[in-house]
Amino acid sequence: MDHVYWCFGHPLLNEKIVKADQEFLFDRDGNRYLDLESGVWCTSLGHNHPAVATAVQKRLNTILHTGFCYADPIVETAASKVLSLLDMADGKAVFLTSGSDAVEFGVRVAQAICEKQYLLMLSDSYFGAYGSASKKSSEEWVFFDWLSCRSCPNFGACDPECPKITALPFEKIGGMLFEPGSSSGLIRFIPKSILSNLIRKIRQYEGVVIINEVTTGIGRTGRWFGYQHYDLKPDIVAMGKGLGNGYPVSVTAMSHRVVERLERIPFKYAQSHQYDPLGAEVALVVVQTLENERLIEKSDQMGKYLLTRLGTLKETCGKIKEIRGRGMMIAIEFDKSPSGTSLAERFYKELYAHQIIIGLRPGHDVLRLDPCLTIHPQSIDTFLETLTSLLS
Ligand SMILES: Cc1ncc(COP(=O)(O)O)c(C=O)c1O
Repeated sequence: MDHVYWCFGHPLLNEKIVKADQEFLFDRDGNRYLDLESGVWCTSLGHNHPAVATAVQKRLNTILHTGFCYADPIVETAASKVLSLLDMADGKAVFLTSGSDAVEFGVRVAQAICEKQYLLMLSDSYFGAYGSASKKSSEEWVFFDWLSCRSCPNFGACDPECPKITALPFEKIGGMLFEPGSSSGLIRFIPKSILSNLIRKIRQYEGVVIINEVTTGIGRTGRWFGYQHYDLKPDIVAMGKGLGNGYPVSVTAMSHRVVERLERIPFKYAQSHQYDPLGAEVALVVVQTLENERLIEKSDQMGKYLLTRLGTLKETCGKIKEIRGRGMMIAIEFDKSPSGTSLAERFYKELYAHQIIIGLRPGHDVLRLDPCLTIHPQSIDTFLETLTSLLS
C-alpha cells in the first residue's frame, strides 16, 4: 500500500484481506486465518453475521442519517433496549460512533455536573484516542496506582483507611472513570475490596461512577458488562466495539440521577453522526442476537474452558507466567526469556505463520485473546493444539 498512511503502531502483516465469515478472515490468495482478536475486539457476533447484514441492508433501503432536528424511532427503541441491560430503564442514552467518543462524552457529563477540578482514574488504563481521559493531564485527573498495591499484605482485603486511599483529595474529585479489566490491553482485574473502598469515598463526596465498557461490555467478559463482576451501580456507562460488530456505533448511557442533574445546566454535545438510524439499528440487532443465541452464557462457558486448558498448558510447558481472563477476554503472559527476546512476540509470529491471529501488545510479554462470542469449539481447539505444539 503506497498511499495509505498506516499509523496504528502495529506493523501491517497482510494487505490482501478481502473477505470474512464468522471467526475467519480470507485473503486474495485463498488463505484462511482464524481471527482470535475479533478485529480490534469488535466483532462480537463474528464477521458478517447475517442478522447484522440484514439490519444494514434494511437501513440502506430506508434511511441512514437524519440531522440535528430529526430522529428515526429506531434510536428510541435501541436506547431503551441498551438501558434495560444496565438496569437504567429510567435513564437516557446518547448514540455516537466510537469508543473514544463514548468515554469522552461520559467524562464531559461528569465534569459538567460535578463542577470539581478532578476525576479519578486507575493508572495503566486506556480510554480512547482523544479527549480529556486520553490526555490524562494531572490538572484534570488524579491517578490511583492499584498495581503497586500487589505487594501489600492486605491486597485482596483492602483496608478502607489505607493511607494510599485516604490521602486522595476526594473533596476535589467529581467522579471516577473505571475500566473493569482491560488495563491497557494486559487484562488485569482490580480486587473488589480496593474498588469498593475507592467508590465508597467517591460517593461520600457525591461523585459519579463512570464505567468504560468499550472493550469489556456487550458480553465480552461472560456477563453483559464487566462491572457486573463487581458489586457496584454505575452512573454513566460508555460502550462501543462489540456493540456494532464492526460497524462504528457507540453509546453512553446515563442513570436517571445523572440526567436530572444534567438537565438543570446548559450542556451541548454535537457530532454529525450522533443518533444515526443505521448505528442504532445495528446496536439493537447485536443486542437482540446476543440474547437470542444465548451468547453471554456461551462466552462465560467457553472462557472457562479456555482458562482451564491454558492453565494446564502453563503447568506443563514451563514458559507461561500467568493466565488471566474473564469470559472471552484472556491474556497469556510469558516468562521473560533469558536471551531478552519476547516469547509473546515469537509465538505471535509463529501463530500467524499457522494462520492464527492473536493480539500482541508491543513491548509486553502478553498475548491476548478476544475471540468472537460465536466461535466454534473446534476453532478454540485448533488454537490450543497449535499453541501446545509450538510451546513444546
Ligand atoms: C478500554 C478501551 N476504551 C476505549 C477505547 C477507544 O475505542 P475506539 O478505538 O473505538 O475509539 C478502546 C479502544 O481500544 C479501549 O480498549
